[in-house]
Amino acid sequence: MSQTLQQMRLGLFIQAAGHHASGWRYPGAQSGSENIALIRNLTLAAERACLDMVFFGDKLVTSGKDHPSMIVRFEPLTLLGSLAAVTERIGLAATASTTYNEPYTVARQFGTLDHLSGGRAAWNVVTTGYDSAANFSRASHPKHDQRYAIAEEFVDVVRGLWDSFEDDAYVRNAETGVYLDVNKMHRLDHQGEHFDVAGPLNLTRSPQGHPVLIQAGSSGPGMALAARIAEVVFTAQQALDTAQDFYRELKREVVAQGRDPHHCLVMPGIMPIIGATPVEAQARFEQLQQWTDLDAALVLVSDRLGQDLSGFDLDQPLPDLPLPENMKSRAKLLLDMSHRDGLTLRQLCHLAAGARGHKILVGTPEQVADEMIAWFEGEAADGFNLMPSHFPEGLELFIDGVLPILRKRGLFRHAYEGRTLRDHLGLPRPAHRRWAGEP
Ligand SMILES: Cc1cc2nc3c(=O)[nH]c(=O)nc-3n(C[C@H](O)[C@H](O)[C@H](O)COP(=O)(O)O)c2cc1C
Repeated sequence: MSQTLQQMRLGLFIQAAGHHASGWRYPGAQSGSENIALIRNLTLAAERACLDMVFFGDKLVTSGKDHPSMIVRFEPLTLLGSLAAVTERIGLAATASTTYNEPYTVARQFGTLDHLSGGRAAWNVVTTGYDSAANFSRASHPKHDQRYAIAEEFVDVVRGLWDSFEDDAYVRNAETGVYLDVNKMHRLDHQGEHFDVAGPLNLTRSPQGHPVLIQAGSSGPGMALAARIAEVVFTAQQALDTAQDFYRELKREVVAQGRDPHHCLVMPGIMPIIGATPVEAQARFEQLQQWTDLDAALVLVSDRLGQDLSGFDLDQPLPDLPLPENMKSRAKLLLDMSHRDGLTLRQLCHLAAGARGHKILVGTPEQVADEMIAWFEGEAADGFNLMPSHFPEGLELFIDGVLPILRKRGLFRHAYEGRTLRDHLGLPRPAHRRWAGEP
């Protein structure tokens, strides 16, 4: 059993052209990262299925060679604002970069979303691996260690700003004429290495106290940040044993930080490819794989490995390459996968075009459920971030086929019990820092 939970946590990672680079070509697939009707319908389907949250990633540069789901995309906070209005229970999570934002803006955006949604907001804290300097009037993209140093301070400032008001500051007493008790409003007066922020934030404490904090980098500094602040950790893991190692190491670091390991949930991404029979599932997978655009996949792998691979022989395995400055953990994962399984560069490109290094589970609903349960019970995951190859079918097959099996085994909820994302995830509402004994 997961160290943490009786039941799995499940999120839906929405990339509206599908997670498989060729998903949009699958017969019957609907697609379009700007197709709000599709995005809304997927979110509503996830809510009917009582999933914990929907998640939207973000990237701040684009090129015509990107994954079809990533060439264009809506700004995620604005998108979640619109989804908050048509949903009631499901968590709403989005990426915001600590390298190309200001803490005050991010605190305000996620605080607002938490108010708008009645306590369903989550922030995926990323340091942004891709060099995005050219879009932000910056001379250069900060290095990996520096990005994480900035992120550490950034998150502390945001958390401090979310505590600008004590919970009971909103008095609105018509008789006494006290609207807001300004004695319960606090400046932050933060002066740090990277940020000077006075505060207070012009927003009262939100329903969750703090929106849920997610972290998605798995390098050393990424795990250190996660261990200190993350309540959910997204990660790409290929094999049960390495996923178990990651899970144990992270939970150990969480405990070393004086935190409860139950309050840091590990959710690897998985791409389920489901068929009524093993043969049908495999045929679906092969159909998707056949459409792989090798040139685009080579760009994707080059991107992740931080160097142009077009000079390498496609039919040979890659040699030992140095890890790039950016995206360290994903590069390591792809190289490990290629060496462990003896993949040629061509095979690696095909697999990376599939799920970008996340685990692909091909099989019947029973087989997919069994594998998920093995990870959950084997202390490799507290839940999963679902990454369907194509929409809406990939999601429907999971909801109709796999969820009933998990429910029958008592491993997934039949109905929401609480109202906030913290309720769904089993996370406590953070006390205001004045009452938690912090300065
Ligand atoms: C499920 C998942 C979602 C991610 N979403 C984003 C994202 O939206 N934007 C982004 O820049 N990076 C995203 N990342 C990448 C990581 O945040 C991180 O930048 C990357 O893994 C490199 O950091 P590392 O060297 O610490 O691993 C995501 C990673 C995972 C596993």
